[in-house]
Amino acid sequence: MRGSMPRNRAERVVRGKKRIGILTGGGDCPGLNAAIRAIAKTAILNYDMEVVGIKDGFLGLIEDRYTPVFYEDVSGILTLGGTFLGASNKANPFRHSDSRGKFRDLSDVALKNYRAMELDGLVCIGGDGTLNIAYKLYKKGVKLVGVPKTIDNDLKQTDATIGFDSALVTATEAIDKLHTTAQSHHRVMVIEVMGRYAGWLALYAGLAGGGDIILLPEFPYDIKKICNVVLKRNQRGKRFSIIVVSEGARPKSGKMVVKRVVKDSTDPIRLGGIGDKVANDIEDLTGLETRVTVLGHLQRGGEPTPFDRILATRFGVKSCELINRGSFGKAVVLKADEIRAVDLKDAVGDTRRVSLDNPVIKAAMSVGTSFGI
Ligand code: F6P
Repeated sequence: MRGSMPRNRAERVVRGKKRIGILTGGGDCPGLNAAIRAIAKTAILNYDMEVVGIKDGFLGLIEDRYTPVFYEDVSGILTLGGTFLGASNKANPFRHSDSRGKFRDLSDVALKNYRAMELDGLVCIGGDGTLNIAYKLYKKGVKLVGVPKTIDNDLKQTDATIGFDSALVTATEAIDKLHTTAQSHHRVMVIEVMGRYAGWLALYAGLAGGGDIILLPEFPYDIKKICNVVLKRNQRGKRFSIIVVSEGARPKSGKMVVKRVVKDSTDPIRLGGIGDKVANDIEDLTGLETRVTVLGHLQRGGEPTPFDRILATRFGVKSCELINRGSFGKAVVLKADEIRAVDLKDAVGDTRRVSLDNPVIKAAMSVGTSFGI
């Protein structure tokens, strides 16, 4: 049976209940519903808390849009992709764009709405942009905890973020499929995957899918080296090649390819098109037939993998524990299979990027994978 939400603090204090809020900010990814479910179930079953879901990330906090979340709402959503609360990767209370495109600081409005919701703590699930905003709100007085998610897997302090593993499976499956058609037609297949400033997705999917060349934002590539690898493979009888390109990759002394600028977004740059550039350059320089596949938002869709379901559940449980304990201004992270809490200020700001001495890079190089460098 669905319970009803007590209307005010006095009534709730009589019932002795705490109230926890949840929001999902930034771009979505598989595993968000699993995290919401874990937070809500832990809150309801272990701490007898009430749960409030804020709609569309920070937009809901600015616009005072939220909904009570009951056990029944989160039962059966473990495997569902996306977020049933909605998300926004533009909303920023500190830089809110009005209908005429003018920016205003509405953080006081967000704070007022947060206070009116009478939350004892808020869990913000998001990537670097969301957790940065969360940290600023925390400094303004919002009692919150951060949970890291992003298919880019580029947050410092944590070994993994919710969504990465699911996107990795999608990208690897796509590379596997491209392999067969590349072989039949003796073509060079370029596949562009997401990853703005860090190439974890391209690196892992490239290695798992047996990519011959992997291009990452961290290592600007030399197109001549790429062509040499492709031509050498041809000479050795391998008349096809698979090239996995991170959307943030760029040639040496060249720039990232920007597809659009979303002015009112926390990070306005949207990338796309480097796959076409690499393919055109290869075709021009080698005469080999080349095709491009851009995976795009497929990587953010679909159901979460078992790894992401488990990670999201563990992160969700821990974040709820922290709120119950009154331990705010923290982010939950994964370190060597242990879920820990770190200071939010240490978890935001810098992108975790691939370095040349990374063991996965070394393993890839050992099996002959080229990074075009
Ligand atoms: O940061 C996550 C991410 O999926 C990036 O990999 C990608 O560049 C970006 O978001 C796409 O954003 P949008 O959904 O606004 O196109």
